[in-house]
Amino acid sequence: MAPPSQPAWWHTGVIYQIYPRSWADADGDGIGDLEGIISRLDHLSDTLGVDSLWLSPFYRSPQADFGYDVSDHCDVDPMFGTLEDFDRLVAEAHRRGLRVIVDFVPNHTSDRHPWFLESRSGRDSVRRDWYVWRDPGPDGGPPNNWVSHFGGSAWTFDEASGQYYLHLFLAEQPDLNWRNPEVERAMHDVLRFWMDRGVDGFRIDVAHAIAKDPLLRDNPPAQIPDDGYKISAEFSSQRHVHDMADPDIHPMFRKIRRVVDGHPDGADRYTVGEIHEFDWSRWASYYGEDLDELHQPYNFGLLLTGLDPAKIREAIVGIEEALPPGAWPNWVLGNHDEPRIVTRFGWEASKAAAVLLLTLRGTPTIYQGDEIGMEDLDIPPGRQQDPWGRRMPGFGRDGCRTPMQWTGAEHAGFSPPGTRSTWLPVHPDHRRRNVAVQLGDPDSHLSLYRRLLRLRRSCPVLQLGDIELVGDAPNPLVYRRTLAGAEPVWVVLNLSDGEAPVPSQVEGGVLVGTHRDREGAPSPRRLRPWEAVVVG
Ligand code: GLC
Repeated sequence: MAPPSQPAWWHTGVIYQIYPRSWADADGDGIGDLEGIISRLDHLSDTLGVDSLWLSPFYRSPQADFGYDVSDHCDVDPMFGTLEDFDRLVAEAHRRGLRVIVDFVPNHTSDRHPWFLESRSGRDSVRRDWYVWRDPGPDGGPPNNWVSHFGGSAWTFDEASGQYYLHLFLAEQPDLNWRNPEVERAMHDVLRFWMDRGVDGFRIDVAHAIAKDPLLRDNPPAQIPDDGYKISAEFSSQRHVHDMADPDIHPMFRKIRRVVDGHPDGADRYTVGEIHEFDWSRWASYYGEDLDELHQPYNFGLLLTGLDPAKIREAIVGIEEALPPGAWPNWVLGNHDEPRIVTRFGWEASKAAAVLLLTLRGTPTIYQGDEIGMEDLDIPPGRQQDPWGRRMPGFGRDGCRTPMQWTGAEHAGFSPPGTRSTWLPVHPDHRRRNVAVQLGDPDSHLSLYRRLLRLRRSCPVLQLGDIELVGDAPNPLVYRRTLAGAEPVWVVLNLSDGEAPVPSQVEGGVLVGTHRDREGAPSPRRLRPWEAVVVG
């Protein structure tokens, strides 16, 4: 587990995810925009001190899946602004020392993308093979048993041409055929377009799905029980061995990596793939044997473990063992697809979760609003927006996508005064839970995140050091971070409702704690329920 010999910004840095619809609305249409993001960049550089921002899609899109249905990869949707606004955003971010990561959506396009319109125009269209078209199965139904993540068959019949097209998500999101070299080239050009505009990295949407079984064989039935992860019974009734993650994905990632690394400006760029894979050796394969695929496959392990200390230990061990030499881990606790941290774990526990996320070995990603402990809002049926939730009650993702809570004022300071309404309702708790209030409260979530981020920045051991689990008892969860030539840093997390003893070998002063009264004092010998301390 040696630290990288020449650490890059994405090794040491912290990523902050912005969901552009919901972060800051400058023009008062109730939907966030690029101008709004520019106006709030100081929150990232000064208030928090993170290193980079990842922007979920802001490209031209009919918004069937809120931007994950792209109809022009190389333009900004007018609701978010213009390409000039984007250029300003990059310049303003760079001026503050922030790197910009953009979402790259390679698996599918919008059904209104000119490529798909052309492809759909007939069996002999020059772009027919850019998407996945097949004749009906023997019974006249879909060509195989694949199901959409959002419910129902993954195939939609096109009356005009008598064939089905594939969509692992909505029918409005037809899957591209990455086995067609023209598609691959066109998508590489998209990467080049954004690199030319100065972006520093790409978050690759459903990265593992771009390569499917070339024979499009049926998925076998699932032998494994549902592990509790938020997936429908229909989806988990199959083993997803043919509709995604075909071994041919590896050369595809190697080519993407060559395009990114080979950009003539020579900038130090980063790719991170959305890979929902919990078998750690398969997960680790996406780094590439020679570290020549993704810089990182996202590690969603903590979404499965929750705050169960025994499971977290297992995930740490499994991940560290699976990493190829020189590969750098990463950790995620939330994003625009998952219920929020406070909603999952509760208020007190969410502070310990912040300590965990920001002290494990690897690059952390913070989802907007988690730094103030935002909670999911139950959206009344008439105002639900997410297509998944509208099709499958209980699966909606609107709750974690409500507008960012900047102030206690109207619209939480997300939209300017006078705005009629916001695209999703603002959580009513914004009057007390917002950035402005928490900035003035040393015991707030925001203050804790700031202290943790400041400590991380000034502490190479936390940024780059090894991790060793301490003791065998699952709780408290204790690990030691070490780096040659530096004093070790201990992290002790009591992930329980009762008190917990601190192991005797933990020595030093509390650098940061969930409970501020501990800071500056020698490490306590017992922790209160859900208390966490960083000791050094
Ligand atoms: C990813 C995105 C999600 C989107 C889906 C389809 O999982 O994170 O928001 O709905 O891909 O593009």
